[in-house]
Amino acid sequence: MNSKLAKAQSTSKPVLNLGASLPKLNTKAIRAAHNEKNDTGACQNFPLHRKKIIALLNVAVSSELVNMLRYRHHHNLSLAMDVPELSRDFLKYANQELAHADKIAKRIFELNGTADCSPRTLAKQKRNKFKAHKSIASLLNTDLACARAMIETYRQIITRISSYDAATCEILEKILTLEEKNMAELNRHLLTFNHSEPII
Ligand SMILES: [Fe+2]
Repeated sequence: MNSKLAKAQSTSKPVLNLGASLPKLNTKAIRAAHNEKNDTGACQNFPLHRKKIIALLNVAVSSELVNMLRYRHHHNLSLAMDVPELSRDFLKYANQELAHADKIAKRIFELNGTADCSPRTLAKQKRNKFKAHKSIASLLNTDLACARAMIETYRQIITRISSYDAATCEILEKILTLEEKNMAELNRHLLTFNHSEPII
């Protein structure tokens, strides 16, 4: 990112024309955008703040990969607990999380960035713990907490980049829709298993 452009976007404010109902355009930011090199490779979009967008997308990639691992863990746990209908859904969620990580990683490469799938980065996610669970309800509560965090993460990223990168937003909004659907499913499972006896 051209530092002039970043400065123009972050510091210059639109000049208000008190006689009109809309503020004037930020010509300083437009000029800076015009002068910036198009460094997005084959991508036809022109996302300003490209590096910051890539950094946000990498947060999503690592979260998705850790979610994928946790769902696979829960898939195996629920198989061991002899709850096949739940284990099937956990496997489905794990595969979806991997597909989400792949889609976002692809977009990062389109933006001339590098997707960070390093185990060291994944290990930094302190919030996403792999606990020993004594009941299905406990396991589902962990998944619901992580699903809520993922949805909030996507909402925040979309809000931050919506003015700069419509193509990335479209990808994230599709993923967000699926995350919300999965959270509703997890809630339904929790209602079913909430009063079940401890299994281990
Ligand atoms: Fe996901």
